Amino acid sequence: MNVCIDQIAELGIAIPWPLQDYTELAAVPAAVSCARLHARKILAEWHLNGQAAELVVSELVTNALVYGGLLPGAAARLWLSSDGERVLVQVWDSSCQMPALRDVQPCAESGRGLVLVDSISEDWGTYRPARLPGKIVWSVIAVGMT
Ligand SMILES: Nc1ncnc2c1ncn2[C@@H]1O[C@H](COP(=O)(O)OP(=O)(O)O)[C@@H](O)[C@H]1O
Ligand SMILES: [Mg+2]
Repeated sequence: MNVCIDQIAELGIAIPWPLQDYTELAAVPAAVSCARLHARKILAEWHLNGQAAELVVSELVTNALVYGGLLPGAAARLWLSSDGERVLVQVWDSSCQMPALRDVQPCAESGRGLVLVDSISEDWGTYRPARLPGKIVWSVIAVGMT
């Protein structure tokens, strides 16, 4: 089953996959490594091979902190969901501006985060959630069991 953007938009943040986790991140320098370690721990608890999902979490949370808005409260929100075969990573930030895959030149020093997400993910995209301002960037990654 491919999880398409319309399904995710319809279901919002309540994806009915049996494994679910949610955490909030503050705009502090350690937030990206905290998010990555958090994802590693949760996926290990779920007995899933988490390396690819960890990379996606790292890139999406970095972007949320760099490009997100400045509303009070959490700077980024991270949902992890799984059906045991795929992991759905969803990262919220308060900016309404949507991310855009860049055409990256070989000598460019930035702009590869979403290229990496695109290459790792079965599918990815963005949507504006009904119950929050800003947007969610999501990615579905195929994972193996540990
Ligand atoms: N969460 C986000 N909110 C708004 N814009 C974003 C977000 N994430 C990415 N972008 C936009 O998409 C572009 C590409 O992102 P990325 O591939 O991660 O490269 P980089 O972060 O190095 O610029 C960014 O330069 C930015 O303009
Ligand atoms: Mg980036």
